[in-house]
Amino acid sequence: MEFLLTEEQLAVQEAAREFTKNELLPGVIERDKNMKFPKDEVRKMAEMGFLGMMVDTKYNGGGMDTLSYVLAMEELSKVDSSCSVIMSVNNSLVCWGLEVYGNENQKEKYLTKLASGEWIGSFCLSEPEAGSDATSQRTTAIDMGDHYLINGTKNWITNGGSSSIHLVIAQTNTELGHKGINAFIVETSWPGVSIGAKEDKLGIRASDTHTIMYTDVKVPKSNRIGEDGFGFKFAMKVLSGGRIGIAAQALGIAAGAYELAVKYAKEREAFGKPIAQHQAIAFKLADMATEIEAARLLVYRAAWLKDQGMDYTGAAAMAKLFASEVAMKHTVEAIQVHGGYGYVKEYHVERLMRDAKITQIYEGTSEMQRIVISRNILSGQLYEPMMKSGEN
Ligand code: CAA
Repeated sequence: MEFLLTEEQLAVQEAAREFTKNELLPGVIERDKNMKFPKDEVRKMAEMGFLGMMVDTKYNGGGMDTLSYVLAMEELSKVDSSCSVIMSVNNSLVCWGLEVYGNENQKEKYLTKLASGEWIGSFCLSEPEAGSDATSQRTTAIDMGDHYLINGTKNWITNGGSSSIHLVIAQTNTELGHKGINAFIVETSWPGVSIGAKEDKLGIRASDTHTIMYTDVKVPKSNRIGEDGFGFKFAMKVLSGGRIGIAAQALGIAAGAYELAVKYAKEREAFGKPIAQHQAIAFKLADMATEIEAARLLVYRAAWLKDQGMDYTGAAAMAKLFASEVAMKHTVEAIQVHGGYGYVKEYHVERLMRDAKITQIYEGTSEMQRIVISRNILSGQLYEPMMKSGEN
């Protein structure tokens, strides 16, 4: 068992740390306050190669492993989860889905632009009445012979107002249930695609979350991903990997809050000594460090399993479940360590707490992760992933 990062992974971590400090930290409070989409920062993220990290270099990607991606996600999320969710959706849901399940034409036409960051993409699964219950798709994609006609509404779509490509999940044949669902590549410039107002959110306020309406959108057959009826499995497979990205985001939020709490506790004095010297605070820091490290091991292990080509669905769900709960719990504790200062924006921890909440909700709520984990236990998969070389 090896716990050391490679030279390349360390370099990625360092580059992401510097980028976060120099490019994201300066304007993060302002962007959060004004719900300002980080357009310039996304361009710089593209230049750094953060938007298609795992994609093969022949499609303009970085050709890196999942652990490198996780390390970068962790660093960016210590400061700016509005930026890291843009990165996560583009890398894990859009680029990875297209690279693994798209055909060569789709990769040439779309993946090359998405991996370079020239375009960003959205993953459109959730609907007003289909969030956790993802099989209940109301958006329809009627087979018209040479094309599909898409009608319906998608909710809470990340990058909704800024993406060039939507991966849309829609029901083609209701009688077949989830086996009648398809996934499509939809260009947002096509007639019939309309973008609703930007959501005013508790956290990740600078990220661009919208309702999307599709009205008689004509999608060529060549833009369906995989075989007819593959759409639900596509969504589930893509989300399994996506959950590693969000787990890394949660880990970064927790670690960011912890680092601020340690720094503050060493500097701030009360009753004649730094508050870190008081057991009440020192024990909080000890609990934070321990649980964040446990989350880190789960997240890195899920990434490692994926890189080995082994079954990682249960491991990704465990990582997301645990890391997001740790993020919520310890961002609250970091505010407590800061006392009154923690409650104001200038000290960053209140934003991290607001950002933490979404990690327990999107890409499957904590309750859905428990469903995935418990089903893995009952099917006998979860405790032998180290031994099993399964399909992704
Ligand atoms: N990989 C491959 N196939 C899978 C799978 C996986 N991980 N999980 C399920 N499937 C397959 C099953 O094998 C089954 O296929 P068969 O019938 O052929 O056996 C089919 O999918 C249906 O599976 P279930 O019966 O388990 O489906 P279910 O209705 O009970 O739901 C669920 C399972 C895990 C709860 C699923 O609905 C789920 O993940 N819900 C949460 C949805 C979610 O994560 N939404 C996030 C929105 S996207 C987002 O947030 C992005 C963003 O912008 C940040």
